[in-house]
Amino acid sequence: MTETPLATTAAVDTYAFLSSVLAGIAQPVWVVDPAGEIRFTNPAAIAALGYDDAAELEGKPSHETIHYKHPDGTPYPVEDCSMLRPRRTGETIHSDEDWFVRRDGTMFPVEYWSAPIQTPTGRGAVVAFTDIEERRRLAQMTRERDIAEARATEARAGQRRIIEAGDAARARLARDLHDGAQQQFLNTLLHLRRTEQKWTTEPEQAKDLVGRAVGEAQSGIEGLRELAAGIHPAILTTRGLAAALYVLTGRLPFRVELDLAQIPLPPAVEASVYFFCSEALTNVTKHAKADVARVTTVMEDGHLTIQISDNGIGAASNPAAGGFAALTDRMAALDGTLEVTTTPSRGTTLTARLPLAPGPTNQG
Ligand SMILES: Nc1ncnc2c1ncn2[C@@H]1O[C@H](COP(=O)(O)OP(=O)(O)OP(=O)(O)O)[C@@H](O)[C@H]1O
Ligand SMILES: [Mg+2]
Repeated sequence: MTETPLATTAAVDTYAFLSSVLAGIAQPVWVVDPAGEIRFTNPAAIAALGYDDAAELEGKPSHETIHYKHPDGTPYPVEDCSMLRPRRTGETIHSDEDWFVRRDGTMFPVEYWSAPIQTPTGRGAVVAFTDIEERRRLAQMTRERDIAEARATEARAGQRRIIEAGDAARARLARDLHDGAQQQFLNTLLHLRRTEQKWTTEPEQAKDLVGRAVGEAQSGIEGLRELAAGIHPAILTTRGLAAALYVLTGRLPFRVELDLAQIPLPPAVEASVYFFCSEALTNVTKHAKADVARVTTVMEDGHLTIQISDNGIGAASNPAAGGFAALTDRMAALDGTLEVTTTPSRGTTLTARLPLAPGPTNQG
């Protein structure tokens, strides 16, 4: 058998050879004997532990020299220490994080491996460690940056939610004002204009129109009061949608036929349907020159359909802003749609379709 050059070297040369290998590597390494005394340290370990010379460490009890306290200053009893256990058990120990003490008493965090090793006096342990101060600092910085970023994102999202909630509330208020009180004051104005025309020629009718104007103005004020209090039209809460629509349509200067599905609706839907009818019927009053209008609600396939048609001039247009746009928004807010069909001289039909969640509130 041919012997390798290393195997033919005398034991003392092997020691010198391995010492010089360990002297050349950056990883700190030391060896303890079966009694737990330091027998060898490489230059990287000497420097990391804050010593000048191997002689200062060799022969010293390992635990009591570099491992005798915790970072908070409390003592670390040798019985609790597993780093030198490989001497007794033959196992290899790895620790992600531990703390070593330098000569001047300061401490630094380490990751270490401790493995059994045969020494001239029996089984000892060889310990290799890495100073992880920089790694911990980077990890801490990354954690802090992640936390700061998460907080900033959360703060931005919070701000956006507040702005969106504010916008939504303002938009809802604007729609409710437009479709509610504003329409009633408009009707007041229309009645008063017609009163003016009939004042001398048809005093009886003029008197009747003044009565209507007063009624509309009172309703408008009532609507404003209710909006200011942040509630839906009181009649909706006290008497329901059908009653509210009878009162609303009873005041109009043309005939209105009502054909309403007898179904309980969620309050938000009831209010939306009410304001939808209010705006659509005011449009009929203002623009259609109709003598009859029809309001129907039908519940089918989990959808509520509300239709308002008139037999007027049929000149409805659907501009981006104004009453129709607000109606489209009102329906979209409930995941619904609005369709406007208008035929010259034949009239206009508004069809709104709202999905209703299944449940006891929408069973007909
Ligand atoms: N039933 C209808 N019959 C005939 N024309 C209509 C009818 N409804 C609406 N219009 C026409 O369509 C236009 C758009 O209606 P919309 O409700 O958006 O605005 P508006 O009633 O003029 O103003 P606002 O509702 O903002 O006070 C009206 O200006 C009118 O010319
Ligand atoms: Mg309008």
